[in-house]
Amino acid sequence: MKLIINYLLCTCMCLILVYAKTDTYRAAVVAFTPNLSAPEPLDRLYTNVASYLSFIDEAGAQHSDIVVFPEDGLTGWYDVITFPEIVELVSTQVPDPNLKITPCSSSNKKYSKALTDFSCSALKNKIYVVVNLVEQYYDNERKNYVYFNTDVVFDKNGCVAARYRKINLLNENLFVPGKATLYFETDFGVTFGLYTCFDIVFKHPALNVLSDLEVTDIVYPVAWFSHLPFLQGLSVHHGYAVSNKINLLAAGLHDPALRNGGTAIYLANGEILKVYINGQKGSKLLIGDVPKISRRKSDKSCQVLEQLSEPTKEELIDIASFATSVEDMTNYTFKSIDLNKKEISETICSGEKFCCKFDIKLEASSKANYAYKLVAYHGTVQLSQNDRLGTRSCAVVACKSEDNASCGQRHKEPPSGVTFEKIEVKGTFNSQNSHDQPSTLRYNLKPVTNYTFCRNLKNNNDVEINLTTTEKQSLLLTFGIYGRVFKDDGKPVGLTEE
Ligand SMILES: *[C@@H]1O[C@H](CO)[C@@H](O)[C@H](O)[C@H]1NC(C)=O
Ligand SMILES: *[C@@H]1O[C@H](CO)[C@@H](O)[C@H](O)[C@H]1NC(C)=O
Ligand SMILES: *[C@@H]1O[C@H](CO)[C@@H](O)[C@H](O)[C@H]1NC(C)=O
Ligand SMILES: *[C@@H]1O[C@H](CO)[C@@H](O)[C@H](O)[C@H]1NC(C)=O
Ligand SMILES: *[C@@H]1O[C@H](CO)[C@@H](O)[C@H](O)[C@H]1NC(C)=O
Repeated sequence: MKLIINYLLCTCMCLILVYAKTDTYRAAVVAFTPNLSAPEPLDRLYTNVASYLSFIDEAGAQHSDIVVFPEDGLTGWYDVITFPEIVELVSTQVPDPNLKITPCSSSNKKYSKALTDFSCSALKNKIYVVVNLVEQYYDNERKNYVYFNTDVVFDKNGCVAARYRKINLLNENLFVPGKATLYFETDFGVTFGLYTCFDIVFKHPALNVLSDLEVTDIVYPVAWFSHLPFLQGLSVHHGYAVSNKINLLAAGLHDPALRNGGTAIYLANGEILKVYINGQKGSKLLIGDVPKISRRKSDKSCQVLEQLSEPTKEELIDIASFATSVEDMTNYTFKSIDLNKKEISETICSGEKFCCKFDIKLEASSKANYAYKLVAYHGTVQLSQNDRLGTRSCAVVACKSEDNASCGQRHKEPPSGVTFEKIEVKGTFNSQNSHDQPSTLRYNLKPVTNYTFCRNLKNNNDVEINLTTTEKQSLLLTFGIYGRVFKDDGKPVGLTEE
């Protein structure tokens, strides 16, 4: 009898061990500052390739299943948006994944040494490798070479398993856009969607790739430009992971003076497993064990965030010198928060129909160094010469002074003198062809991780949204709902009707 019990105990233990072992996979993401000091473009490229190879070795030595590198990490972004001859020089052909080619063991001269090196390194380290690079492709219709901003996935045998061409280019006139969404399966049982940087704010591909509920995780190379109050990288990426209940592996180009930064592993439950941002140049490998999800939850019920494990504790290194730009919010509706009041209940509207309701409890001293304002906007914003985005937002934002134009600007010093005991932001919006997500940011340029975000589909046309803090907040820059209204993309800048 005792023997049987021992046997059962052991079997159970083993089962638990086996279960625990396959319950997560190990992900690595690299925050990367390219070294652009060599005078020759190819020397710059191969200096950065060498750094990538040592990060792959390090991630492999720590038994990672997958390692993800940022967008434009091999070249920096400036060269590839500016010089056609450099684009050509640093480019490589990338095999069609259907051909199951392993560049490491191919003698085809169309594949650059960089592509071959990554393939060999994936094989040697038995790790999936995701790199963003310049792809050269012979276009039979144009009878010419074209260039794509491409993510290449190598599997654990160094074989090219996926090739994604960025669809939504941002000021990248030397590239042609890709067309297709893409996902790939792995030998550790996780199916990943894949897209690049700016793509995340577009329905195609960022929402379309989720139409299959088996896509539970996303790999995401990015070179984000921080733009306040709503478009800071970590804030947008976290909001996407929360609102879609998806694991997101975001590897960010890190160049604080140029506004580029924000690397993290976000979990489907809203937790941030690992995160890196600061005001100094330098690269960093983040590794974490990501829970596997068999199927994504598609329901629009409340998402309750409770940060269980604290994110990495790196100091606020020079966070004030991390550059951020500011949106021109001329057409927004503003309402100042009176810091002498302890409770505020206010509804403000942008245009006739789009209204946001705020309920706030706060404690303030007379020495508050930021003003806070309620803002509402339903309209189009000009993000680049070619990109006008339909947006809608309701938020509390920090402003450098009482001037509306100072909202989104930061002091060198952290906010002091104001503690929000509670903030609740609510609205009922048209649900058609749109997507809403939390948009939150603290002084350390990381998102808030203690709140509840609810979306309730009321009928075919309306979605009721509320976002409520569950912890007091004293270092707040932004707290609100940021929505995209896809049908308004491309319309003239200014207010649009709900
Ligand atoms: C950048 O690369 C050059 C070689 O191209 C090297 O001499 C230099 O030390 C590198 N700088 C840094 C900061 O790693
Ligand atoms: C800020 O904008 C609001 C309208 O949205 C306006 O009523 C208010 O006067 C402006 N405040 C300042 C200081 O410009
Ligand atoms: C969030 O809540 C958890 C537990 O509820 C707490 O341990 C943590 O300190 C909170 N984090 C912040 C940033 O308030
Ligand atoms: C937030 O929305 C959820 C779902 O629609 C609802 O159950 C909850 O009562 C709302 N909370 C507030 C404070 O309105
Ligand atoms: C504000 O709206 C007007 C049209 O009403 C438009 O001409 C202007 O460009 C807009 N400004 C911004 C910054 O959105």
